[in-house]
Amino acid sequence: MRSEPLRLVLALPKGRVLAEAVAALRAAGLALDLAADERALRHDGADATVLVMRNADVPTYVELGVADAGVVGRDVLLEHGSALYAPVDLGFAACRLSLIRRVGAKGPVRRVASKYPRVTAEYLGRLGSPAEVVELSGNVELACLSGLADAVVDVVQTGATLRANGLEEVDVITESSARLVVNRAALKLKADVLRPLIEALREKAGR
Ligand code: PRP
Repeated sequence: MRSEPLRLVLALPKGRVLAEAVAALRAAGLALDLAADERALRHDGADATVLVMRNADVPTYVELGVADAGVVGRDVLLEHGSALYAPVDLGFAACRLSLIRRVGAKGPVRRVASKYPRVTAEYLGRLGSPAEVVELSGNVELACLSGLADAVVDVVQTGATLRANGLEEVDVITESSARLVVNRAALKLKADVLRPLIEALREKAGR
């Protein structure tokens, strides 16, 4: 006897990536119903339940198996430090993680602020720099403008934030884009839905 296909639970990041993630999943054949209320955190649709959260929390939900799969930036995955299965580069939300300073800054880098303390510490370690890392949770560029730090490591997408604040990229640490992440146990238990989803997303993303 064949049972009903298992429903998926998906962890998706709130904000500008949400619409692109939903569009990619729909294009791959999933029927997702999202409530019009942008403050709703849980959406129960025909094929899946969508949980909407801060992007930094997506790896935790997928790793612990509360969500079967999710969409999250490679930058966030690197910072989380997890060995999550990330089978598809979805291509959107392309950005870079860069070392940023005030335009023309020349002095030594003694303190670096970032939302990405792990990536920053690894980067400084590779350079052999003894600079201190200070963790912040948003508007990180302000650290450079206020004297809290003499450099920051942050996301650069269009470069508009840098231009608006007299800052420049000194070094590109790594490139990022959105990835599909999948819980390894769910991949076995819900193979009937997850395998075709992975294939369809790969095909659509051309990767
Ligand atoms: C991100 C990032 C930069 C900005 C870069 O911030 O931290 O500040 O976007 O994008 P741009 O190059 O297109 O200007 P976000 O808006 O996600 O908010 P946050 O600073 O609170 O993390």
